[in-house]
Amino acid sequence: MSLPTLRLPARLEGPLSAGHPWVYRDHVPSGTSVADGTWVRVEAGRTVALGLWASDGAIAVRVFRRGRADAPPQVPDAAWVEATVARALALRSGLEEAGSDAYRLVFGEGDGLPGITVDRYGRFAVLQTYASGYRRDGSDAAELLRLVVRSLARAVPLTGVLRARREGAAAETVWGATPPPELTVHELGLRFLANLFEGQKTGLFLDHREHRAYVRDLARGRRVANLFAYSGAFSVYALAGGARHALDVDVAPAALRDAARNVAANADAIGADATERHETLRADLLSDPAAALAAPQLAGSDLIVLDPPSLARRKGQRHAALRTYRRLNAAALAALPDGGLLATASCTAQVSHEAFLGVLAEAAAEAGAQAGVCAQVLHESGHAPDHPVPLAFPEGRYLKFVVVRVTRPD
Ligand SMILES: C[S@@+](CC[C@H](N)C(=O)[O-])C[C@H]1O[C@@H](n2cnc3c(N)ncnc32)[C@H](O)[C@@H]1O
Repeated sequence: MSLPTLRLPARLEGPLSAGHPWVYRDHVPSGTSVADGTWVRVEAGRTVALGLWASDGAIAVRVFRRGRADAPPQVPDAAWVEATVARALALRSGLEEAGSDAYRLVFGEGDGLPGITVDRYGRFAVLQTYASGYRRDGSDAAELLRLVVRSLARAVPLTGVLRARREGAAAETVWGATPPPELTVHELGLRFLANLFEGQKTGLFLDHREHRAYVRDLARGRRVANLFAYSGAFSVYALAGGARHALDVDVAPAALRDAARNVAANADAIGADATERHETLRADLLSDPAAALAAPQLAGSDLIVLDPPSLARRKGQRHAALRTYRRLNAAALAALPDGGLLATASCTAQVSHEAFLGVLAEAAAEAGAQAGVCAQVLHESGHAPDHPVPLAFPEGRYLKFVVVRVTRPD
């Protein structure tokens, strides 16, 4: 089959052959005209790659396979998709045994299927795509997606696959049965309600599973303030780990209602007094973090979890995001007593791990000057195994998680 061929500058051969999965539009010959979601051949030096063309956005080609001029890659077929999905599933094979039936089955670029994510929620899966070609009926991209869904449906005990809602379009069932409005799923043996139609992300924030387990192990005897709580998953873990009390703070009332229900649903793991040890507080934490952290309900907290939403969608918003991280973390550090712990996260892809640590150092200096606190890093982490990222793809590493201990020397 002869494919449209794009010749890239030779300097792009390094990243392309190393596994970078994107070709930016700035790098394709101007005037290139290809139908959205069509296979294209990309050449840089002696490297030849195959990818799907996207008509809009900064990413012009998402690369699926690579080779050399003398051994060029083949267009992905059903067998290739099946093997790629099988490789992705192998990475998740221990999760179910560990008590989790909600996790990411396919993480796009990280699993060799750029622009496609699939999350499992028990017997249902939620599919999301990040390029318009996947929605163009009859396109190569739409055919590839059909093969991905078919491979998953064969290999995972699913009842239905839902395509997530997006701006202007409702969620739709693309295979099997439609999920009920609300499901109970499991993570490391704990129970969580998930709404695949209305919830944030695809239902739950699955990328923090290991971080929640880390917080569970720190929480014994502590009073926890879970800031940007969503449906309270960090609090459920903390209470199950023996926290004295947990307060979930979020701006979304529906999320807080689910937080209370999640705590009640885990009374067997938390204890008969589960709901008495849990409270919720609706508050805007972004407009004035220091004022929000001074709320009386937060008094005495000695473990603060801070997990704000992504604060920058574009490069131009990066500086504002760093300022907001500094203010939030400085306020949290200043609020903690001697021996207090801050478990702080960033899901902003525009902020690197190093930049996040830099901003935490600034926040600690600010809290040190104001409140005499010192801060030590106890733990740093990022992506869980169900969110793998190619080493050649730093843009894909969005999640940072750092645990800091506060001391207040005389
Ligand atoms: C990354 S999610 C938190 C996920 C949660 N930690 C979990 O493990 O499920 C961010 C949360 O911030 C909340 N949020 C967004 N803007 C906010 C604001 N200004 N004040 C308080 N919460 C806010 C959203 O409703 C969302 O629940």
